[in-house]
Amino acid sequence: MKIGVLGAGQLGRMLAIAAYPLGHQMAFTANSENEPSVLLGKAFINDDKQGATKQLTNASEVITYESENTDVEVVKAISKKTPVYPGAKSLFTTQHRGREKAIFDKLDIPCAPYQMVNSLTELEQAVNKVGLPAILKTATEGYDGKGQFVIRSNDQLESAWQSMNGVEAILEGFVNFKRELSLIAVRGIDNSHKYYPLVENTHHNGILRLTIAPAENISTKTQEQAEHYMQTLLDEMGHVGVLTIELFETNNGLVANEMAPRVHNSGHWSIEGARTSQFENHVRAITGSPLGETTCLQQYCAMINIIGKHGPVDKVLELSNAHPHLYGKTERKGRKLGHITITANTLYELNTTLAALEAFMP
Ligand SMILES: Nc1ncnc2c1ncn2[C@@H]1O[C@H](COP(=O)(O)OP(=O)(O)OP(=O)(O)O)[C@@H](O)[C@H]1O
Ligand SMILES: [Mg+2]
Repeated sequence: MKIGVLGAGQLGRMLAIAAYPLGHQMAFTANSENEPSVLLGKAFINDDKQGATKQLTNASEVITYESENTDVEVVKAISKKTPVYPGAKSLFTTQHRGREKAIFDKLDIPCAPYQMVNSLTELEQAVNKVGLPAILKTATEGYDGKGQFVIRSNDQLESAWQSMNGVEAILEGFVNFKRELSLIAVRGIDNSHKYYPLVENTHHNGILRLTIAPAENISTKTQEQAEHYMQTLLDEMGHVGVLTIELFETNNGLVANEMAPRVHNSGHWSIEGARTSQFENHVRAITGSPLGETTCLQQYCAMINIIGKHGPVDKVLELSNAHPHLYGKTERKGRKLGHITITANTLYELNTTLAALEAFMP
């Protein structure tokens, strides 16, 4: 099929790399010729936005997007002519933290206590309800921990509200978690579902640095609980494609943080680590193909993000069980430039490989 992607970053690039062996063609809307996906297909440059989107729509049989910050109205307009997966309902829900929390509540999925906040007065009222410590986050557009303010005492309320620059915000109670997990799933047009194993994520300065897949010591009950939450979300939104949910593991079980209607950084390990990668499964889902097996190929997997500087990439190539993926981006502080997948048959092998790649860790 002819697949169109709104956006041309590394996610689109890895979708294309997965789509070509299945015989598909790829096209993208890009902000410049330098974006990671541009070499991987036809690129329509967004100099005049409507024009590129229109060209992509005309050139594609199915459309998907790279980011939850995609304009819902644009997706609705495209859908009149060409199917867009995931659909507008998934996008509308997942691009706003308040709507995500509302769907968690509706489906009885535990999440942090929260209040929407539109002014300093509302923030004061919200703090009385939610308690401290708490996190104030912009309702939309946040990523890599940007647009967030951790409030520990009442004298921080004014600076917290000012840091939101007047946009709608959400105050969330601070979750006392043991670790951060995520679950990636895929749902087909025919309502078939597949789930990857829960993985463990470690962040530094708000940016994901390390994923361990599968997460250690996850009981069958916990995996099933996460899959149950996920299934209710997929079905409620009529989601088609990959959906990711970020979870906190607490002493009282799983607590949902946020969702992404797309392939996710915490699933990049699946390229070498799973029988079918998250990228291939997203492509399979949106093209109406049977979904692929999500089981791990090896006992242990990990994914290290390459952030800011490329570092000693040749060191990765010297290892038989590590695979670099570079996105063709220029170096900049805090920027995701690539990732490394590690596969291992024993915990010892995993840990020695992680130690050998220490230069890539913060
Ligand atoms: N309610 C909370 N309680 C405790 N920690 C939290 C809470 N919300 C967020 N965090 C911490 O802040 C990190 C970033 O928050 P969140 O995932 O909501 O933002 P984001 O900017 O969308 O991040 P990303 O794009 O990396 O997923 C989380 O991974 C977690 O470590
Ligand atoms: Mg997050």
